[in-house]
Amino acid sequence: MIQRWHILGAGAMGRLFACKLLRLGLEPVLLMRAGSSRRETLALRFDGREEAYHCDAIGLPELQASSIEGLLVTTKANHALAAVQSCRAAITPGAPVILLHNGMGVLEALAGSGLHLLAGTTTEGAYLDATTLVHAGLGETVIGREGDSAPQWFKPFSESAERISWTSEIDNALWKKLLINCAINPLTALHRCRNGTLVDNPVLRAEMELLCEELAAVSAARGNARGASCALDWALSVVQRTAANQSSMLQDVLQGRETEIRYITGYLVAEAKRLGVPCPRNEALLRQLDSAAASH
Ligand code: PAF
Repeated sequence: MIQRWHILGAGAMGRLFACKLLRLGLEPVLLMRAGSSRRETLALRFDGREEAYHCDAIGLPELQASSIEGLLVTTKANHALAAVQSCRAAITPGAPVILLHNGMGVLEALAGSGLHLLAGTTTEGAYLDATTLVHAGLGETVIGREGDSAPQWFKPFSESAERISWTSEIDNALWKKLLINCAINPLTALHRCRNGTLVDNPVLRAEMELLCEELAAVSAARGNARGASCALDWALSVVQRTAANQSSMLQDVLQGRETEIRYITGYLVAEAKRLGVPCPRNEALLRQLDSAAASH
């Protein structure tokens, strides 16, 4: 059993998972870029009620070698690689390192690092309203390592009421989330609209359908039959459930932050090239949003 989990990425998702770990009776430690050891108070708002949680926080420069027994990485995909490298020396050999971000490619980039890597994907919705963490939508989280059954340390997670489950088919789960993000995030970011506009506006809906045809073709070439037949249905169902939300990529664009486009559409386009599948519409979105990112 791993009692003390370090969380790298103290944004909304990192804080939400810190609260979840506290509810499981575990001891999360938030890793901060700077500062010394301290207690953090997390104000969590859910369903109109506010609760305070307390956990340890530590600045990266203070981390001792081999002090991390379990690491949950909740940074954006575009920061994950550098973030993991910044605390590499503190990760105990064999300690699970769980990557929980939108997009794909970081796992592959860390493949030769000697770390015990796992991945996860979540549909939890959370954002920071000044210093309050708002848990805006209940979602599901799946964590896993391809082909592996759930390890012993996972028991507190799976036995909890936190909607966290194990999968031995994490590649399929990550690919499904990638398709959903490819269909929703770039369009909402480019047109600066909420998710629901992608079904309300006929022009955008047609554009999303064309994107999904390409996503389906890449899935088929990759041997992912579910993605090939369900890409559009998955995207439509998420758009409907999250109609009032701003996608994470739209939030990044509005706040002048670098987006995860290279790990979302960029990964898809690279896979399409590798497999010889044309996907001009996804390529165009990648070009538009990548140059938008470069101009910030
Ligand atoms: O990135 C996001 O915002 C979310 O993953 C999703 C699925 C698009 C819902 O808003």
